[in-house]
Amino acid sequence: MQTAPKQQPATDERDGAGPDRRQPGIERLRRLVADDMAAVNQEILRRMASDVTLIPELASHLIAAGGKRIRPLLTLGAASLCGYGGDRHVLLAACVEFIHTATLLHDDVVDESERRRGNATANMVWGNQPSVLVGDFLFSRAFQLMVETRSLEVLRILAEASAIIAEGEVLQLMTANDMDSTEADYLKVIESKTAALFAAACRVGAVIADRPQAEVQALDDYGRFLGIAFQLVDDALDYASDGGTLGKNTGDDFREGKVTLPVVLAFNKGSETERQFWRRVIEDPASQSDSDWPQALRHIERHGTIAETLARARAYGQKAHQALAVFPAGEARTALAEAVDFAIDRAL
Ligand code: IPE
Ligand code: IPE
Ligand code: MG
Ligand code: MG
Repeated sequence: MQTAPKQQPATDERDGAGPDRRQPGIERLRRLVADDMAAVNQEILRRMASDVTLIPELASHLIAAGGKRIRPLLTLGAASLCGYGGDRHVLLAACVEFIHTATLLHDDVVDESERRRGNATANMVWGNQPSVLVGDFLFSRAFQLMVETRSLEVLRILAEASAIIAEGEVLQLMTANDMDSTEADYLKVIESKTAALFAAACRVGAVIADRPQAEVQALDDYGRFLGIAFQLVDDALDYASDGGTLGKNTGDDFREGKVTLPVVLAFNKGSETERQFWRRVIEDPASQSDSDWPQALRHIERHGTIAETLARARAYGQKAHQALAVFPAGEARTALAEAVDFAIDRAL
């Protein structure tokens, strides 16, 4: 039986991920790259087009619902930090958002998720087959955009990130429903499925600006640490948020038996009875009954594992801040630094 309650946010407060919602922390970055971001949104709309009408219909369901657009903002911010003066950053930012959108379409099928960006997921509206195939279309579009930058290095970085994301999602399948999965396994999953794209999104900003290796690496580090922090917070919120502000259902990870950090830590700290509980609900989610979700929340609360997960996120956020130190102080550096705080403070 599926038990974790599924929040249905009211439509007027839907979508914490919506583009218009005030998001202190990321406002400076949004302002800094506002003109470029408008161009990116145009590019995204243009590239979504297809004569096969189901493609733009399904894609725009997800894309028009907004999302935080954090990855393209990072590409534009990184390019700005590097003093880039051309126009390839717009193509790349659109490309990065297409990769992200494609992975979301696939991820919601794999996770059997019902809500995304405050709306029903595409798999709920159109089914799994169109979602997977339109995801493939968006991935292909992303590669077309990459090729247009005429940079083999950019192609190498984003192609590698795409492969690593897929590896992360597969590794997560392998570690799900198995309480012998470790914290190290979990970190490998989130570095792959989430942080690799954040790192690439930032790195390409320095690459197109022809910056020295130290700066390319610093932006890669910044993005990677930020991405890890971002996913740690996301995984904490899956147990701790009300869903309405997230725009997706909470409790999904529990229902699927995903071994995320709040669970690994609760398992490690738990009594023998608690460990038996986690083994049953995570390894055999079909056995979950109505009382298991509140019970899981109580165990997590007792051992403070949400707070500990968020403390880890803050530590990675600190590393992201430190990575920016090689760049001169200024508006772009401050904007990127504040984006780290945004990723972490959204948990508050
Ligand atoms: C969702 O990413 C997937 C994760 C890595 C947790 P976002 O939280 O950036 O999703 P949108 O684009 O804002 O909806
Ligand atoms: C999101 O992962 C997909 C990728 C990062 C590729 P999750 O499954 O953890 O995120 P949500 O909760 O669906 O957004
Ligand atoms: Mg998911
Ligand atoms: Mg997933």
